[in-house]
Amino acid sequence: MKSAIYPGSFDPITLGHIDIIERASRVFDTIYIAVIQNKAKSPFFKIEERITLIREIFKDNPKIKVEGFDGLLVDYANAKKVYTIIRGLRALTDFEFEFQMALINRKLGIETNIDTVFLMTDEKYSYLSSSAVREIAKLKGNIREFVPHNVADAIEKKLKLS
Ligand code: PNS
Repeated sequence: MKSAIYPGSFDPITLGHIDIIERASRVFDTIYIAVIQNKAKSPFFKIEERITLIREIFKDNPKIKVEGFDGLLVDYANAKKVYTIIRGLRALTDFEFEFQMALINRKLGIETNIDTVFLMTDEKYSYLSSSAVREIAKLKGNIREFVPHNVADAIEKKLKLS
């Protein structure tokens, strides 16, 4: 059985992330979507909300497990005994940061040979990011082409309440 970890902030999960997860699930038997707890001090969605939204999206897919994590990704990987990390690449501009992160994780996870597998996103999502979705939503633009329905509903609800 081949397992992998797909880590990220997912604040919120976009159709670009989902495209990467679908691609990864053709290669791996189990994918742990690892939602980081504490990256941004004031995230748009709380970690529990992000996890709930992602679980709703993949409720019919037993290959996908969604969990929160805090601290180093390699510590989470060691705890799960899963040593493959998945990251999506949208454009060359992603490469430098991802290259650095992959090599740091490889160094930190040297005893277990942690490695990162990169998947290219569908070009139709190459411009898409969670931060763009948050900004468009705050400025009352239409985000429904960029995120699943449940996420769009949750964003609109949160903005109405704020
Ligand atoms: O969705 P993002 O914000 O691009 O995800 C970044 C993430 C969560 C993968 C990265 O920040 C991370 O792994 N954070 C955990 C802390 C860690 O392990 N840092 C060392 C590698 S640079």
